[in-house]
Amino acid sequence: MGTEMREEEGKQRIPLLTPYKMGNFSLSHRIVLAPLTRQRSFNNVPQPHAIRYYSQRATKGGFLLAEATGVSDTAQGYPNTPGIWTKEQTDAWKPIVDAVHAKGAVFFCQIWHVGRVSNTGFQPNGQSPISSTYRELAPQLRANGVDMARFSPPRRLSTDEIPKIVNDFRIAARNAIEAGRHIILLLISGFDGVEIHGAHGYLIEQFFKDQANDRTDQYGGSLENRCRFGLEIVEAVSDEIGADRVGIRLSPFATYMECGDSNPEALGLYLVEALNKYGILYCHMIEPRMMPVGVKSECPDSLVPMRKSFKGTFIVAGGYEREDGNKAVAANRTDLVAYGRHFLANPDLPKRFELDAPLNKYQRETFYAPEPVLGYTDYPFLEETDGFRGK
Ligand code: PHB
Repeated sequence: MGTEMREEEGKQRIPLLTPYKMGNFSLSHRIVLAPLTRQRSFNNVPQPHAIRYYSQRATKGGFLLAEATGVSDTAQGYPNTPGIWTKEQTDAWKPIVDAVHAKGAVFFCQIWHVGRVSNTGFQPNGQSPISSTYRELAPQLRANGVDMARFSPPRRLSTDEIPKIVNDFRIAARNAIEAGRHIILLLISGFDGVEIHGAHGYLIEQFFKDQANDRTDQYGGSLENRCRFGLEIVEAVSDEIGADRVGIRLSPFATYMECGDSNPEALGLYLVEALNKYGILYCHMIEPRMMPVGVKSECPDSLVPMRKSFKGTFIVAGGYEREDGNKAVAANRTDLVAYGRHFLANPDLPKRFELDAPLNKYQRETFYAPEPVLGYTDYPFLEETDGFRGK
């Protein structure tokens, strides 16, 4: 048997390393780069150092999600996070997208609006952050275990302001797809699609969940009303770029940013059934086991009802290791598994999973350091580490 055939057979025994057809995209493995806030996009403009960062993590037939990217000048809540509402920002994404495509990977842009997870310092003219509610957030510890994020009292959007925010998502999606298209002499395409950030207590979830949403108009109260805003965004974005390029990230079970729901399973099920009507490409769901730093509880079956109901590709995330990722794919509890911290610290994560090689440890303290190299592009590849030489 030839070496290539042996390699292929080896991969078939590792569920995460098997190929998968996601709509029009042929993926060679099931290990997805989760969207990770990196705070190195100075002045909200993606920087050249992101070319190296993303292309380090790109593989032929791999699937990468870009970090959460603001849809408008009211969308930001953390320092140096990228946007995609201006021409300068959109153009700055282009060489990053090109580099990822040159490696043969599929690249989606995660589009977000933080809503009340912001303060006046991030807002145009020092205005109040917008939300579904006037309810203010208490300060929160960031995932690096060091920084405290502080928030200003939000302003509740009036009913007639909502179409403008929906439209901001539509335009951001168009920008994402067009990033680079204006260079007519070269066949350059933009992002392959977008992931709508509907998770983790940001604006869309501030509407979904009854801990945050206290509205009395058609965007509050019943499940149908609370989901209306997010689904209007799904519809607008799908109309704009095609449902076959649209995914969404949801976290019905999370309580992050004071955004819990009294009936997360009903919320998750309602959403996936509604999403089926739009025929979007994928649903990316966070396991309830994403707990505070270092705490993980096992709950392998909690997303199964949503996985069963959703007709498109299903992606799970939330503190997965190699083995439980393999098990989830083998048991058909998901199609793909997104890895955040491990993929950050191991740019060659698919290769390491294939070889069952040791992993580099992630460094929390540099997660959000505004450094172009440190904690960003300096995590070693396997051949640069001792593990590879068997020491
Ligand atoms: C964060 O920057 O803390 C953050 C951003 C996006 C998420 C979750 C956490 O979905």
